[in-house]
Amino acid sequence: PFKALVFDLDGVIADTAVLHHAAWKRLAGEIGLSFDETIGERLKGVDRMGSLEIVLGDASARYTHDEKHALAERKNGYYVAAIAQLGPENLLPGAREALVAARAAGLKIALASASRSAGALVERFGLADFFDHVVDAASIARPKPDPEIFLAAARALGVAPGDCLGIEDAVAGVDAIRAAGMRALGVGDGAVLAHADAVIGGLTEFDVARFVAMSGS
Ligand code: G6P
Ligand code: MG
Repeated sequence: PFKALVFDLDGVIADTAVLHHAAWKRLAGEIGLSFDETIGERLKGVDRMGSLEIVLGDASARYTHDEKHALAERKNGYYVAAIAQLGPENLLPGAREALVAARAAGLKIALASASRSAGALVERFGLADFFDHVVDAASIARPKPDPEIFLAAARALGVAPGDCLGIEDAVAGVDAIRAAGMRALGVGDGAVLAHADAVIGGLTEFDVARFVAMSGS
């Protein structure tokens, strides 16, 4: 059975994927770029500068390095202002219950979010005590789908990657989990998260006994 769970935050625990989306959409509008739902979907789980490149698309060449950092900073300002309004009602259904069940089952729990706001959100939601480790996004050099962030989580927990179950809503995140040598539980649409070992629609369907038995050594 698994010894640890490694959770993504945005779109798994917190209903914040929509806020990242809205902040990018606002920025795109301000600089006269179109922003459709296909672009919105591609942003999921992608780090800040990677997301900016997706939003800019062909317009990327029009901006200098410094201008791009300023644009990413502007988007982050919108996002940070939006999450300042959040409370426990913005946790996704089943999230707190899944963490309670995992704790009761004696599992270690880590958070592997690429967001530099992840620690603040965990505090804001009153979830800090559930996590044995929260990976510092600023210490990660390579964005998902690189396995670095999941490997850092496993190392901090002192658990072999093969004994961890990673939980993700993004394609890049599922691929990062698999590249880390962990099993992946997808949260969302099974057709989109085709590389996951199992997919549930949301954490309300998280059955700790079932998923802990799923594998591990
Ligand atoms: C997570 C989210 C992405 C976001 C990234 C960086 O992976 O799913 O949408 O772009 O974190 O977040 P940040 O808050 O640091 O810009
Ligand atoms: Mg996510």
